[in-house]
Amino acid sequence: MENGKKTLLSGIQPSGDLHLGNYLGAIKNWAELSDQFECYWFMADMHTITVRQNPADLRRRTLTQIATYIACGLDPEKNTIFVQSHVPAHAELGWVLDCYTMFGELSRMTQFKDKSAKNADNINAGLFTYPCLMAADILLYQPDFVPVGEDQKQHVEICRDVANRFNHVYGDVFTVPEPYIPKTGARVMSLNAPESKMSKSGPDGCVFMMEKPEDIMRKFKRAVTDSDTERCVRYAPQEKPGVANLMSIYSAVTGKSFDEIEREFDGKGYGAFKPVVGEAVVELLRPIREETERLLADKAYLENVYRAGAERAGYIANKTLRKVYKKVGFLPR
Ligand code: TRP
Repeated sequence: MENGKKTLLSGIQPSGDLHLGNYLGAIKNWAELSDQFECYWFMADMHTITVRQNPADLRRRTLTQIATYIACGLDPEKNTIFVQSHVPAHAELGWVLDCYTMFGELSRMTQFKDKSAKNADNINAGLFTYPCLMAADILLYQPDFVPVGEDQKQHVEICRDVANRFNHVYGDVFTVPEPYIPKTGARVMSLNAPESKMSKSGPDGCVFMMEKPEDIMRKFKRAVTDSDTERCVRYAPQEKPGVANLMSIYSAVTGKSFDEIEREFDGKGYGAFKPVVGEAVVELLRPIREETERLLADKAYLENVYRAGAERAGYIANKTLRKVYKKVGFLPR
């Protein structure tokens, strides 16, 4: 990049309402990345329709997701925030990369296997070629880094393979990106099933970022603790996964260490601990929720943000696309 910063890009599917696990595990750390990197963040709406979506919900979640990111500190002046479908180059490069990705490679993607097992009545071609669109999302911006979770590493790997294959034929067209393993955020587990990750598909154990304080408190008060006999607040993830999860959440929110937390609740039971964690989360999320609501009431501002974002992104993306079209032999417009 011209300012000497390395470039980082990530896409996030607006396929579910954002929750505490998304925040503590990822979003919380993003704001500070923009000091270090030239950052692109986009709402991967085109990816979400590989699974059937309710159109009104998809639109609402896309806009809410933008507002929430801004409320979490992603400054639109310092970050390029946009909607994938607003930059046609994604679909255009996606097609080209479809033709440089092998059937066999795509068949090996574990996410394809998982998702087609879960959606047996809708194993569509988009679900299968999804990694090609994701590779296009990435390669258009020539980023150095792509921050992704464990489940997306295989997709960054195939993106690198496709980029190398293309470069091998046509010369250095694409920067080959590295996965960026962010400073480990907290791994937040479900409040009512602490052996699985907090997720929208288990709504009773999931605290949504836009949820009302009383609902958040109710979920924490009902959080599963452990049926051990000592009933004290001690960090023992194997024996006491429910308590350990509440401790990690409390630690991530307050910055207190596990030792400090054990001391704070020494001699007090789980009944005293749970509402304190709930309160801390309520106070963490309150200003974010309020700011998100304020932004959602200002549609004109949000439109300005995503239009400016798409314009900036489109400029860079089209440069790459033109180069690719030329290399493969398309007649210039
Ligand atoms: N596939 C990613 C996910 O499901 C979202 C995504 C789409 C993405 N395009 C991307 C992530 C490009 C990083 C870079 O989470």
